[in-house]
Amino acid sequence: MILDKNDEDGILRIAVLASGRGSNFEALCSGDTGNGRISLLITDNENADVLRRASESGVEARYISPGRYRTKFGEAEEAEWTRLMMDRGIELICLAGLMRIIKGSMLEEFQGRIINIHPSLLPSFPGLHAQKSALDYGVRITGCTVHYVDAGVDTGPIILQKVVHVNDDDTVEMLSGRILRQEHIAYSEAVRLICSGVRPIQDDV
Ligand code: GRF
Repeated sequence: MILDKNDEDGILRIAVLASGRGSNFEALCSGDTGNGRISLLITDNENADVLRRASESGVEARYISPGRYRTKFGEAEEAEWTRLMMDRGIELICLAGLMRIIKGSMLEEFQGRIINIHPSLLPSFPGLHAQKSALDYGVRITGCTVHYVDAGVDTGPIILQKVVHVNDDDTVEMLSGRILRQEHIAYSEAVRLICSGVRPIQDDV
């Protein structure tokens, strides 16, 4: 059973970690996430648009320095992000455009409780620029994937996927826009599945 910490009130507290625009954060805040509630936003970017969206939605939002690296956390900083989430009773972490790899204490403390959304049908096109890679390759269908996070890049077990057809005249922007609309639907749906126990928290990720 997954509601092991906060089952007094039946609410599963969720943190969103994001670096930029924040449209998935907003979709999670306004979507049907069952008994999951977005209660914390942490960003590694002081100027991220997601901070404005968080203040509009009334969710506690914090910028915490990620440390001196560009694509990963410093050890002390990752511990600080982890501590804040533990203090707030967070049970599930949703990565939504976080431009950093999680490897250290966060992955250990929240093993199997971190999920991510990616704009392709994994395992195709992991990493950056997935929509452009799909278009360049010439696939006729692509989409988005919500998956558990493990130590790899976009490699954890898949929770759900949504398909998007590629049109002959698609540009990267057009295709990305249609995928993003499906991301917004998929992310809330995945959280709902996890919160209702249909997709269990994965102990073995
Ligand atoms: C989305 O395309 C998501 O799939 C990827 O990063 C982007 C974040 O967009 N991981 P937003 O910040 O949620 O608008």
